[in-house]
Amino acid sequence: MPAAKPLVIVGNGEIAEMACEYFDHDSDRQVAAFAIGADYIKVPELASRPVVDLASLTKTHPPDAFDAFVAIGDGQLNRLRRGHVDGIKAAGYALASYVSSRAFVWHNVTIGENCFILEHNVLQPFTRIGDNVTLWSGNHIGHRSVIEDDVFMASHVVVSGFCRIGARSFVGVNAAMAAHVEIAPDNFIAMGAAVTASTEPDSIYMGVPAERRTISAKRFCRVRE
Ligand SMILES: CC(C)(COP(=O)(O)OP(=O)(O)OC[C@H]1O[C@@H](n2cnc3c(N)ncnc32)[C@H](O)[C@@H]1OP(=O)(O)O)[C@@H](O)C(=O)NCCC(=O)NCCS
Repeated sequence: MPAAKPLVIVGNGEIAEMACEYFDHDSDRQVAAFAIGADYIKVPELASRPVVDLASLTKTHPPDAFDAFVAIGDGQLNRLRRGHVDGIKAAGYALASYVSSRAFVWHNVTIGENCFILEHNVLQPFTRIGDNVTLWSGNHIGHRSVIEDDVFMASHVVVSGFCRIGARSFVGVNAAMAAHVEIAPDNFIAMGAAVTASTEPDSIYMGVPAERRTISAKRFCRVRE
């Protein structure tokens, strides 16, 4: 098999630096550069690699020689990361995923492109992870559950068996989903929420048991701007 192409990481914030660290020390990928819009370039180098203008990327790091990884957080309820994924794919780049060697991934789990799956995630049999999904450290994804595209899940979330987490949703630290719960698209599930029943789209849920909030949390407003 030919060696995997080196990577360009799209982004220059904390998540980009974290992605570089994980790819450097726990993957077969070399990180060649970071790329971001010229207006956002603050320093010429990060982690001893150049930060280049995204608009010139096809010239400096063409897609026949480099793959990409979009390392951006949950801004605009994950739409910011999705926008960059769409842009970089349209420019011809293949997208890598990072799956920690310390994650437990059963043999029949499927994982899409541009996923970032950190240490101590447990992905049980028959789970399906879409594209552009971040699972920060220590989540449990129960058997036959589905995580749709563009989800960002913070740490130590328990997704019981047969659940579905809708596209673009954010799930905060220590939240829990009962078996068979379906989180609708564009949800913000607050930290520590215990979700006992399926949810409505475009909503924030909070508390134990989780309830829908009619007034959005400050952060929900900010991420949807
Ligand atoms: C939902 C969340 C955004 C609320 O933040 P906020 O809008 O700034 O909320 P505030 O601090 O202004 O609190 C508003 C009210 O909700 C309550 N509240 C806040 N977070 C709560 C939570 N997770 N569960 C239950 N109640 C909560 C507060 O006690 C306060 O109650 P009060 O009006 O009776 O005093 C926040 O709790 C959260 O979940 N953040 C995500 C954290 C996370 O997982 N980060 C991952 C890092 S990658």
